[in-house]
Amino acid sequence: MAVVIFAVRVVPAALRTDWMAGAGRHVAAAAVFVLVAMAIFLYVVYKFISDPAIAADPTSIGGVLVASDHSAFIGVITNLVFGLLLTLTADRADRWPWATQVGFWGTNLGLVAFIVGLVAESSTLKMVGAPVMGVSLLVGLAVLAMRLQDSELAAEA
Ligand code: HEM
Repeated sequence: MAVVIFAVRVVPAALRTDWMAGAGRHVAAAAVFVLVAMAIFLYVVYKFISDPAIAADPTSIGGVLVASDHSAFIGVITNLVFGLLLTLTADRADRWPWATQVGFWGTNLGLVAFIVGLVAESSTLKMVGAPVMGVSLLVGLAVLAMRLQDSELAAEA
């Protein structure tokens, strides 16, 4: 019920965000991934109810379980943290103007490819999605580190 209320009250506003720039798109992506993570989780619950034998050996849904994990860890939590830190450091100029695009699109499109690869058990999609997501996360972290380095506090220290 809570996710339905969230989907009705929050997601429409999130979808109207500016997807081409700014910190808000990370928070909006987190809102969308709340639904993705919940949908995958409900599928896992359905699989456990419809086939109790899975409890003894969940290998057959291993990929779905890992997809559920990463949609929550990266899709929701990491996007929220990036959105928060980009907002708190918005007064600093980026040394690499292109990097926030990589940090957002590379991370989220890489994650989508990785999640689809895990659910569909496609090694190709996993081998493309995971490194794209990983390298893009590192670029995003570098942007945040440089912004924090450029803060007055760092200059006063
Ligand atoms: C909050 C961060 C993360 C957590 C807590 C996490 C946790 C996990 C867990 C629990 C597994 C399953 C391990 C197993 O089955 O033995 C896993 C698998 C995996 N994770 Fe993550 N992960 C995180 C972030 C990432 C990131 C950033 C990447 C790549 C850039 C990544 C790539 C993978 C890959 C490639 C697998 C193996 C998938 C497969 O079964 O083929 N993870 N992770």
